[in-house]
Amino acid sequence: MSRKFFVGGNWKMNGDKKSLGELIQTMNGASVDPNVEVVCGAPSIYLDFVRSKLDAKFGVAAQNCYKVPKGAFTGEISPAMIKDCGINWVILGHSERRHVFGESDELIGQKTAHALESGLGVIACIGEKLDEREGGITEKVVFAQTKVIAVVLAYEPVWAIGTGKTASPQQAQEVHEKLRGWLKANVSEAVANSVRIIYGGSVTGGTCKELGSQKDVDGFLVGGASLKPEFIDIINAKA
Ligand code: G3P
Repeated sequence: MSRKFFVGGNWKMNGDKKSLGELIQTMNGASVDPNVEVVCGAPSIYLDFVRSKLDAKFGVAAQNCYKVPKGAFTGEISPAMIKDCGINWVILGHSERRHVFGESDELIGQKTAHALESGLGVIACIGEKLDEREGGITEKVVFAQTKVIAVVLAYEPVWAIGTGKTASPQQAQEVHEKLRGWLKANVSEAVANSVRIIYGGSVTGGTCKELGSQKDVDGFLVGGASLKPEFIDIINAKA
């Protein structure tokens, strides 16, 4: 079964209407591989703005959402609100939500379930911290994080996020292959074969081609480089 290559951009808490408008203009004018699914994660305050300006061939994602449709949850946004803005994706479980804002596997699982029930696509982020990798418990960590979710799975080793230290193609392939094996053993062969497992963590125009050539790397979730023209090169990594 072929899996459509997926490239996500995570703009995090960056940009303003001027700079994001310029980035959108660059993307709208660029020649991109039509066989790649591209989704840009915009700050929630700009979701409506980005969706209205970005060419419809590109998807837009919220960077987080809560686990219920509405209520007394100051500052939160719901999947219903995200869909109301014409947005079809949400990034959940990003390491910054886990390690800066203290989100648990359980809460991320609840958010993922509600987002899926609400009809959103979920880019579910998992990944170990450097001390967990050095302690040999990468599999234990990422399997536990996977247990509560399953959609577009973004493996993002925390030690590679924003550090310039990209995982090697071999490191990425090794974990992606084990994740696909876990899905086969714990969910089903069909899910294992259909779920796109994408890599995130200092992906650049220079590292994307070899990473993207790995059998079980089905795309990327890109942070810093998604705010630069080189994001187009990353989208075209398989072209
Ligand atoms: O969600 C993607 C992000 O965490 C990766 O960031 O800047 O290392 O590509 P960056």
